[in-house]
Amino acid sequence: MKTLYVELGERSYPIHIGPGLLGRADLLQPAIHGRQVMIVTNETIAPLYLEAAQAGLSGYDLQTVILPDGEQYKNLDTLNRIFDALLEHRFNRKCTLVALGGGVIGDLAGFAAASYQRGVDFIQIPTTLLAQVDSSVGGKTGVNHPLGKNMIGAFHQPNCVLADTDTLATLDDRQLAAGLAEIIKYGLIRDADFFAWLEKNMDLLTARDTDALIFAIARSCLNKAEVVAADERESGQRALLNLGHTFGHAIETGMGYGTWLHGEAVGTGMLLAAQLSARQGWLDAGEVERIEQLLTRAGLPTRIPGEMSTRQFLDLMAVDKKVMDSGLRLVLLKGIGAAVVTGDFDPDLLRATLDAAHAG
Ligand SMILES: NC(=O)c1ccc[n+]([C@@H]2O[C@H](COP(=O)([O-])OP(=O)(O)OC[C@H]3O[C@@H](n4cnc5c(N)ncnc54)[C@H](O)[C@@H]3O)[C@@H](O)[C@H]2O)c1
Ligand SMILES: [Zn+2]
Repeated sequence: MKTLYVELGERSYPIHIGPGLLGRADLLQPAIHGRQVMIVTNETIAPLYLEAAQAGLSGYDLQTVILPDGEQYKNLDTLNRIFDALLEHRFNRKCTLVALGGGVIGDLAGFAAASYQRGVDFIQIPTTLLAQVDSSVGGKTGVNHPLGKNMIGAFHQPNCVLADTDTLATLDDRQLAAGLAEIIKYGLIRDADFFAWLEKNMDLLTARDTDALIFAIARSCLNKAEVVAADERESGQRALLNLGHTFGHAIETGMGYGTWLHGEAVGTGMLLAAQLSARQGWLDAGEVERIEQLLTRAGLPTRIPGEMSTRQFLDLMAVDKKVMDSGLRLVLLKGIGAAVVTGDFDPDLLRATLDAAHAG
């Protein structure tokens, strides 16, 4: 097991990573301050991992809420089901919510914890690779609104994150690849050594080798933790974590939500960012080639879907939430491991990049 810390003063917390962590009372209990504990999970995860998680929480007044599975349930109605359960069981301000699941469950349970009785304790037990390397770390919580994704939310840090690598065994290959995209992202934005490690070890990761997974998850969390510690509320460098996301959101929206997984869209988006960076003269062709190869080995798509025109793509990018008054700003690369947020790119080169990146 590896343990690292997100350094946020009084709100600092540990991230434990390794096999067999579900149900480790010794890791869970230091993060719990009252007697009442509510596990929030979904219909897919409950039959797989609920019993093991409950085993680590015996001795508490333990309740469970099992929600339907899917991004379409990350909304205020579902959030209310968590509040209903908390109130029915008379949970007090010293209660603890435990999120057992992927990013959807983490965001829902985290927002419930942020707002129930003005904030209660919260533990993340992420069970997807994406949640283990991204959504469970950093304290962003929230739900979707019919008019926008993640539009209602709060910053609320967990007391502890427990990433059990054994849970990744039941994840399907596409979900695994989607998590790998966010892992590759950390290498690209600020950790060239990690990128080189990924080039050597990608086959072990896709084969779900435990030691390789622990290393990659820990290194990813370390990178995210450093960025979050420096910029908890995303006023500056935290925006670098959005590499590939403006392009990716255009694909997710253009294809209809759920057609491409978020991580898949981000994978292609990162390659587009690299290709535009190369056209700007900031990255050489060999570096773009390395990025494309690594994404391909991770099982990620690298072309824009044929049914999306460049015009549609540009329109969708311009409504992305990272647009500022000064125009479209993008996270681009000045090298592998060196991302920048910039509005200083040539729109003609952006168009040329999109034209060249279509499938078929
Ligand atoms: N808060 C943040 O900083 C942050 C960052 C990135 C993403 N997110 C959010 O996270 C969500 C995406 O997270 P996700 O990719 O984990 O999706 P998800 O939570 O929908 O999980 C993907 C699917 O895998 C299933 N699943 C989960 N664990 C499993 C396991 N161990 N074995 C088998 N199946 C399992 C889930 O039930 C679901 O069907 C989005 O809502 C996104 O907005 C939040
Ligand atoms: Zn992402």
